[in-house]
Amino acid sequence: MPEPEEKGHTAPKWSGRFAEGLDERVLRYTASVGFDRRLAAFDIAASLAHARMLAACGVIAAQDLADIERGMATIGEEIRSGRFEWALAAEDVHLNIERRLTALVGEAGKRLHTARSRNDQVATDVRLYLRAAIDEVDAQARAMQRALVELADQHAATAMPGFTHLQVAQPVTFGHHLMAYYEMLKRDRARFADCRRRANLLPLGAAALAGTTYPIDRARVARELGFDGLCANSLDAVSDRDFALEFCAGASILMVHLSRFCEELVLWMSPRFGFVRLPDRFCTGSSIMPQKKNPDVPELARGKAGRVFGHLVALLTLMKGQPLAYNKDNQEDKEPLFDTVDTLVDTLALFAALVPGIEVDAAAMRAAAAEGFATATDLADYLVKKGVPFRDAHEAVARAVREADRTGVDLAGLPLPVLRQFAPQAGEDVFTVLTVEGSLASRNHPGGTAPEQVRAAVARARAELAD
Ligand code: ARG
Repeated sequence: MPEPEEKGHTAPKWSGRFAEGLDERVLRYTASVGFDRRLAAFDIAASLAHARMLAACGVIAAQDLADIERGMATIGEEIRSGRFEWALAAEDVHLNIERRLTALVGEAGKRLHTARSRNDQVATDVRLYLRAAIDEVDAQARAMQRALVELADQHAATAMPGFTHLQVAQPVTFGHHLMAYYEMLKRDRARFADCRRRANLLPLGAAALAGTTYPIDRARVARELGFDGLCANSLDAVSDRDFALEFCAGASILMVHLSRFCEELVLWMSPRFGFVRLPDRFCTGSSIMPQKKNPDVPELARGKAGRVFGHLVALLTLMKGQPLAYNKDNQEDKEPLFDTVDTLVDTLALFAALVPGIEVDAAAMRAAAAEGFATATDLADYLVKKGVPFRDAHEAVARAVREADRTGVDLAGLPLPVLRQFAPQAGEDVFTVLTVEGSLASRNHPGGTAPEQVRAAVARARAELAD
């Protein structure tokens, strides 16, 4: 058999341990620099903290540290300006930077990797990345909350039908409906904050898996990088990615919330509802039907929820079969995580801009709230207050609704003598509870839909957002 063609072996040998260079296909398959270069700024920060610690502990000389700092400053600048030459042959972000450092400063560059492995290095980088990403997601989620609160304030008294089973159930205020999403986002943000706390521990020092023989000072590195403490077990530090799982789980839940809001916007924009309009800058047309104005943004965001759930499942599956400690499988954690962050940040930022643009057709909402016997429960409650047991009141109102339906009027349209046939306890005052506004105002307790409660919820939310 002839020797394989030389062009199949483009990469240099990994080290003196190897007899030949890497097959080019293996290189392409295993290299991660195409996507993990995104970690560069975190990789440099972590390397600098590591080098400063090594110098402080006497593991490398002060001159080595000075050279490393100088080299890293150049590299940072090269990367920011787009001049850095990323090489596939150097496999990943870590080796690309280290190689360039050695090219720039020589010996000192080769000393940087003392007491460290790419295993604890990459775990550190990803945690630093995620910490910054969570802060960005949080800022955008907060911006969307602000937008919801301001719109809710404008519509604290705007009546709309509340639905169960997508059937008209009871009147609610639009402001109350919007504030439901405020609450969901509040819990989403709390989940991310919780995830951030657990992620914010330092893996460096774990080295490949078992720790290192050098007299290192992990607490010093942790302090410099803003970590709250140290990963307590070296095997765990290099191998688990549960912080990424937690983030993607929290992201999936947030996308469920946004997706429900999107579904409502799509429904409300349909002419059958006609509750809201979106400004043209958030809508798109049809290439064939000239009359169309489509809610593409809510639809696409609803669709992107699926993509985020997919990333969560990918990461769960990635982890489940791995024996301790580090395995190359872990390299696959990055793309799902990065894409989850991007999707969340983009979607939240867009909704923070879109929500203030929602134009409400209050008359259409009010009319729909008056349809479908939405105040039937109010009538039953009225009878209960006159001494009728609730089950009997429920039955009396059910019969009255049937009669109103038969004669084509609303409950408030039934003449009092007719209403009294079903509910003899009904007096002249019954009509105040049958109106949409009466129904809304009477649900006046914390958590209720009354305009007064919506205004109180808005005030609480404003205080929370000001913190
Ligand atoms: N690019 C690798 C990753 O993302 C870095 C760690 C590689 N470690 C190793 N021993 N091969 O996981």
